[in-house]
Amino acid sequence: MSDTVKYLLDEARIPTHWYNLLADLAVPPPPVLHPGTLKPVGPDDLAPLFPTSLIMQEVSTAREIEIPEPVRDVYKQWRPSPLFRARRLEKALQTPARIYYKYEGVSPAGSHKPNTAVAQAFYNKEAGVQRITTETGAGQWGSALAFAGALFGIDVQIFMVRVSYNQKPYRRVFMETFGARCVASPSPETHFGRAVLAQTPDSNGSLGIAISEAVEVAASRDDTKYALGSVLNHVLLHQTVIGQEAMAQMEMAGDYPDVIVGCTGGGSNFSVIAFSLIGAQLRGGQKVRVVAVEPAACPSLTRGPYAYDFGDTGHMTPLAKMHTLGSTFMPPGFHAGGLRYHGMAPLVSHIKELGLIEARAPHQTPCFEAGVRFARAEGIVPAPEANHAVKGAIDEALRCKEEGVSRAILFNLCGHGHFDMQAYQDYFAGRLTDQDYDERELAMALAGLPTVHEAV
Ligand SMILES: Cc1ncc(COP(=O)(O)O)c(C=O)c1O
Repeated sequence: MSDTVKYLLDEARIPTHWYNLLADLAVPPPPVLHPGTLKPVGPDDLAPLFPTSLIMQEVSTAREIEIPEPVRDVYKQWRPSPLFRARRLEKALQTPARIYYKYEGVSPAGSHKPNTAVAQAFYNKEAGVQRITTETGAGQWGSALAFAGALFGIDVQIFMVRVSYNQKPYRRVFMETFGARCVASPSPETHFGRAVLAQTPDSNGSLGIAISEAVEVAASRDDTKYALGSVLNHVLLHQTVIGQEAMAQMEMAGDYPDVIVGCTGGGSNFSVIAFSLIGAQLRGGQKVRVVAVEPAACPSLTRGPYAYDFGDTGHMTPLAKMHTLGSTFMPPGFHAGGLRYHGMAPLVSHIKELGLIEARAPHQTPCFEAGVRFARAEGIVPAPEANHAVKGAIDEALRCKEEGVSRAILFNLCGHGHFDMQAYQDYFAGRLTDQDYDERELAMALAGLPTVHEAV
């Protein structure tokens, strides 16, 4: 037992239900508001964008929601994903820490994103939807939805943030291989895209802009719905298969995490590895420290106020209370494209306010340094986003070394970096810079936050 490296579960152990953290929270998160009336949104407000089943999941407080059999069938393609004990990394760091990582790079798209893409495509198909629009930053989410669209016979149109589109041409081809259409955002295909281009012809784009474009197309066509790759409750819900499997695998290892680490873009992969354990803690179980690692260049959790804001730059979405840098904030074009989002999942923001998690924000160069160190010990080249989690885990392991204590550290290695070689090449050539966001731009974006008077 003591030298086991991989903890594998049989297909029969794929979770049968998604786990909903809302059921275990004593204080619910503030409601999502209609931007016109400032009243809580109802199912009718969301109906142009999402099928009813997903809207119901968005507002559900049931602890468990059954995973439909056709979705579990597709999950079998790569789930349960392996849990590794990073023995060679531990040795390289000379740390007494016990480091575990759940590896989601084994999925068809190369990350955790298909866990929700498959579920969302399934429910859309069930509702008779023919076309789904979406945004993508890193290209991982777009690839996942393209894959899911191909399985369920749904056309997928993807607005890919321009800076990532240019950095990763093969991600576009990957999406096209599954039959999806992928355009650089801002694009000339939507009113909002054209407006941004008129003002800033060389715009790098942002997830906020790409979301506006995708929402605009979906809202204007009856046969089309919209899908989001992170942030929303139902997306986080679908990702909870990761945490449930991880708990079973930690049990196989005869261990329990003291610290959990994940990277945060919109919050979906971080929350999933953490939610099951936070839920167990809230029900009287063992306490865990949970650390979110976000990019210094786009630090919503550590720098953004907790306030009502739009989910997109074009102000087409409802208002959610979240840690936000302002919906017009334009992060620098650093390499972890999946982490370039102005806001944080309302549920993750809420549990940060409840003191259940902590957050930190390193620059990209030390994250790449950590990723390379990890690759040389474990043989997996992480996605630039995942490098943030690797950095967080290595820092925790080095702290164990300094303090002379052995803690169990569990982190989510949310994706591989096989399409991110340009970023690694830039890192090795010393071309990767640690850009800070522009303070003036941040102040301007925050000044534009909508005014919402909340009942106390
Ligand atoms: C590999 C990878 N990790 C993390 C993220 C960030 O998203 P989230 O915080 O929802 O997991 C992305 C988003 O595109 C991604 O591609």
